[in-house]
This record gives sequence, structure tokens and C-alpha cells, in this order.
Amino acid sequence: MPSIDEAVRTEPSTLQETARRHLWMHFTRMSAYDDAEIPVIVRGAGCYVYDEHGNRYLDGLSSLFCVNIGHGRADIAQAGADQAKELGFFTNWSYAHPPVIELAAKVASLAPGDLNRVFFTSGGSEAVESAIKLARQYHKLTGNPNKTKLIAREVAYHGTSLGALSATGITSLRQPFEPLTPGGCHVVNTNTYRMPSGFVVADLVEAIAARIEFEGPDTVAAVILEPVQNAGGCFVPPEGYFQRVREICDEYNVVMISDEVICSWGRLGEWFGAQRYDYQPDIITTAKGLTSAYAPMGAVIASDRIAEPFMDGANSFTHGFTFGGHPVCAAVALANIAAFEREGILEHVRENEGPFRAMLESLRDIAIVGDVRGAGYFQAIELVKDRTTHESFSDAESEMLLRGFLSVELYRRGLICRADDRGDPVIQLSPPLISGPQQFEEIEAVLRPVLDEATERMHVHRD
Ligand SMILES: Cc1ncc(COP(=O)(O)O)c(C=O)c1O
Repeated sequence: MPSIDEAVRTEPSTLQETARRHLWMHFTRMSAYDDAEIPVIVRGAGCYVYDEHGNRYLDGLSSLFCVNIGHGRADIAQAGADQAKELGFFTNWSYAHPPVIELAAKVASLAPGDLNRVFFTSGGSEAVESAIKLARQYHKLTGNPNKTKLIAREVAYHGTSLGALSATGITSLRQPFEPLTPGGCHVVNTNTYRMPSGFVVADLVEAIAARIEFEGPDTVAAVILEPVQNAGGCFVPPEGYFQRVREICDEYNVVMISDEVICSWGRLGEWFGAQRYDYQPDIITTAKGLTSAYAPMGAVIASDRIAEPFMDGANSFTHGFTFGGHPVCAAVALANIAAFEREGILEHVRENEGPFRAMLESLRDIAIVGDVRGAGYFQAIELVKDRTTHESFSDAESEMLLRGFLSVELYRRGLICRADDRGDPVIQLSPPLISGPQQFEEIEAVLRPVLDEATERMHVHRD
């Protein structure tokens, strides 16, 4: 009889059984795998990953918007191993170590303007949670103890811990855990494909000011926004949107948080999304691509103005996580950023964003394709029943389309991407930043026949 360890390594079928019995997958209907096989990914190389049977998949989602530099980089893994041998762990609570000091300086040098103070976390939700607490404590230290509320946007995803969840604007993710941390308020997002009735584009940003007025400016601590909103399908900001957010935040003394857990580290062709849209937030939250997910790490990057009261006398940010600033993760992040610089990753994204987008736009001849939108290597296709009227699918149709057909069929044909209905149904693509024309062709070769078939199956109106 082999031990479980040996069996897991040698027997694919045992992996399935063991996963079914013991693994609790995140955001996963476990019953969906009662009869179906759990996709078990065992290896990655460049833009591709391989399952336990040796099948190859194009990772069109960078494993949840994470593996920006691509899979299988021995140099980045080695940086972590070298650091683990030198100093495997030491805490950031009252101590520092060389990799975290070097990384803080590097991140500050790349971040826009005076965002010079870096507080490390283990991931994105912890970064958002920390930014919310930072904004609240900042206001308490500066004489505004009632400023506690947070303005976010509908359908936006900002993480799952109870504070971050109060910013997340997706009802189905919030309701099972209510009551949440108080103070989360939501305004319209920048979905210009489906403008709320009676709205013009300029109203989208003015909704933030209106909500601050409604809540009472003395009660609002922060506004949190992604440069391009992920959930709902890559909503880009209208011209001038973030410049006006900056004005509103200044006018009402509200902290402006740019949640760049996805939109930093080259995803939009810049180090940070704020640089792409030319605005200056007070705080950036980041994670995922910081290490290209070779190790779990996030960060809150605060401006000198926000950090200043915390540097005074007996004051401190009374908050922390054991693993924040882990030396192995910091060494991995430094190696990842060095690879970005050496290999011109940002330039590569800027050069190839056009061809990537053009490939997706070419799919507009398929009747189910209602909209194509996004920026950089972060794009979405919205699927509709009737593109003249923008009519969407019912919940039941959406379920049939996304879970009953698209997710399974795209994966079966070797493409990992996201078929999502946290807003209206979309397919999201966010490939590793090293991908180029060859991968775009492969994506099209899968998407086109699958979307054609979806058009037939769903009886989509043809114009
Ligand atoms: C914008 C944004 N904020 C926060 C989070 C939460 O990050 P994590 O899953 O690392 O906790 C995510 C995750 O996708 C995200 O996209």
C-alpha cells in the first residue's frame, strides 16, 4: 500500500478522490464535481499550464490575474529559495530585514508622486482591509473621529474579509455574512454600455459627490475605486473621471484609495493603473502581480501626507499581520520586478495591447458579442441576447450559458479564461504579460467557434 503522499504523487485518479474528500475549494460549488473531474493543474511554463493528464492549456487569465511574468520561472523561484536559506522568516512587528527594506524603497520609487510609505500584507483583501483601517485611523489622528464611512461602486470586488466585503458591491457575496463592517456605501460604476436611465457620462462621477453630501461629509473616510473595474467586466473610466474624483476627495477631505490588486504591475501597461489614467491617489492597494504570485504578498502604499500623523510621537498604525513583509515573499517580489525591468515587460504590453484588442474586436461579427472593453492585458467581452437593444440573458439563461456551456467548453478546448456573471454575462481575458500575437491567435481559435455555438444554442437575435 503506498502512503497517501506517494499515491498523490503517482496516481492521478487518487488525486481526484483525495481532493473530493478533503479539499474545500474557494468560491466553488463543490457538488459540481460529484460527477465531473476536478481540474488538477500540475505544472506551468510561460503562458501555458498542464493538467494531471498532461493536457496543455493557455492560461488566458494569468491564474486569476496573478502570474504576470508567466509560469515556470526558475530565477524567481530561486530568489525565494536563496532567501529562505539566509533568513526564512522574521517579523515586521518592530523589526526589519534587508529584502523588505529594499522592496519598500523599490515600490515607493515606482509608485506615483509622494506614495512613499509601504505597509506589506499577505494578499489583496488584507491590503484593502488595512487601507480602510488606515483611512479611519488617519481621520481620528487628525481630528475627524466621525469620518468612518467608505464609498465604493456597485458590482465592484474588493475582497472578502468583513471590512473589505463592506466595500465589495456584489449582493450575493455580501448577504450570507451580514451584518458587515458598518459604513460601506455604493454608487454607480462606469458601465457606459448600460447607463442608468436618465444618466449622462458626467453623472457617473458626480454620484460620488452626491453620496458624500447625502451621508454627510463629516462621516465619510474614504473612496475606494479600481482604475478599471474588474467585476462586471473591465469597466474603463470615462475621460476625466479620476481627475474629478481627486477634486471631490480634496473638497471633502476624503482619502482616495486606488485598489490596484489587479491593475498594477503591468496589467494596464504601467507599473500602476493610476499612472495610466494620470491621477494621484492617497493610497494604492496592490497584491497579485507584485510577486507574479510566486509567493503570496500584498501592499498598501500611502502618501507622505497620510503617513505623517502616524510617524509622530507615541502614535502608530495599530494594525499588522504576522506574515506581512515576509522575507521570502519580498525577495520573490524584488526578483519579479527586476525581471520586468530587464525584459521590458511594460513596453511589451504597450506594444501588444493594440493587436490583443483588435483580435477581440474582430469577434464582434458574432451575434452574441455585445461589447468589447478594457485596457492593456485586461479585457472583457459582454455577451447579449440582442445587441441592438443590449438585452441580456435571464438568470436561468445565464446559468445555462456560462456554467452549462462556456466554462466547460472553453476549458475542454484548452483555454482558461473567466466566464462570469457577477454583473451581466462576460468572458474575461487577462493573459500573462509575456503573451503576444501567437497566443492571441490561439485565443481567437478557441473563442470564435465556441461563441458561434453559444449564439446558436441561446437563440441569440441576429441583426
Ligand atoms: C480589486 C481587488 N481588490 C481586492 C481583491 C482581494 O484580493 P485577495 O483575493 O488577494 O484577497 C481582489 C481579488 O481579486 C481584487 O480584484
